[in-house]
Amino acid sequence: MKYIDIANEKLDKIRQRDDIVVLAIESSCDETAVAVTCGRKLLSNAIASQIEIHKRFGGVVPEIASRNHTMAIDNVTKEALAKAGMTLADVDCIAVTYGAGLLGALLVGVSYAKALAFATQKPLIAVNHIKGHIAANYIAKPDLQPPYLCLIASGGHTTIAYVKSLDEIEIKGSTQDDACGEAFDKVARVLGLPYPGGPQIEKLAREGKPSIELPTPYKDKDTYDFSYSGIKTAVINYAHKLQQKGEALNKADLACSFQEKVTDIMVNNTLRCAVDMGVKRVVIAGGVGANGVLREKMSQRAHALDIEVFYPPMQLCTDNGAMIASQAYNMIKCGAKASNIDLDAKANLRVWE
Ligand SMILES: Nc1ncnc2c1ncn2[C@@H]1O[C@H](COP(=O)(O)OP(=O)(O)OP(=O)(O)O)[C@@H](O)[C@H]1O
Ligand SMILES: [Mg+2]
Repeated sequence: MKYIDIANEKLDKIRQRDDIVVLAIESSCDETAVAVTCGRKLLSNAIASQIEIHKRFGGVVPEIASRNHTMAIDNVTKEALAKAGMTLADVDCIAVTYGAGLLGALLVGVSYAKALAFATQKPLIAVNHIKGHIAANYIAKPDLQPPYLCLIASGGHTTIAYVKSLDEIEIKGSTQDDACGEAFDKVARVLGLPYPGGPQIEKLAREGKPSIELPTPYKDKDTYDFSYSGIKTAVINYAHKLQQKGEALNKADLACSFQEKVTDIMVNNTLRCAVDMGVKRVVIAGGVGANGVLREKMSQRAHALDIEVFYPPMQLCTDNGAMIASQAYNMIKCGAKASNIDLDAKANLRVWE
């Protein structure tokens, strides 16, 4: 019998159970992450972060990321299994992020997962990274049920998605240029803050006031889309003008003004969309979802509109294996087929694919 037939036969048996054990691998950017889950329960969540390695370059260097994933992946997998108190024999299936992300980085996880799945003859589940970010919420809140509206705010995406069911999403708005996380990182660079910029801006902004006027994109347009390049350019121009005039820049005020502006836009678009659609539940996903001001603002304004808000704990907002395991579980429950050994990484995989 061929591998794929064995895998699908096994998958059809395990999908009847609620205690499916998933070992999930995530390597799309600069975190080598492996998690083990049993149903919606997180058993272990091992992460080898490369942030310190990429810091000196001011951002992720793809080739260096791939090399470090290769070095870390075996140990991180062993660590995840050990923390879960399991061996590979206890695992029902192997899940892996196959896109979107850095191609070389994705390929490390995909190749490793394929080898594990084939060697153990266990089903392989190919997971979309962004759907994984959304699914992190089910680990944190196992009784969460669609439909709901999700703001995906990450390093490469800013999207409002209507999550209709566990395997159906509809895009309501997206960034037309930079992602919000990318804007945080670029603005942090201008302010001389280290990578990744989001948490650094949040920290510095606590000492500042939102006193600097920045543009509001699509002010007169009826859209849920986003644009961050104009705000980013306005911040850069503001800093450069002061520099040219030899005047001191109040970095904390600029960080605070930037953060206020981008979080206002995210919250306004999401809640306007929720109200227009009559949706009463809003969920936040992705790395920028760790931002306290975004969480607070969304919760407060939603409360006034009688809309419920949920977001995962910070460590489940940025890249992790648990979110990939959670989405694999959803896929299995929705009847997904196993991937074959010719599974390829897809750098530009879109949110809805
Ligand atoms: N507290 C915070 N405030 C704002 N931004 C934050 C915070 N913490 C992390 N970020 C930002 O989140 C981003 C990383 O998120 P994430 O790991 O989800 O992105 P990614 O995986 O690189 O991109 P994607 O998920 O779109 O492929 C970075 O841009 C980082 O600056
Ligand atoms: Mg991510």
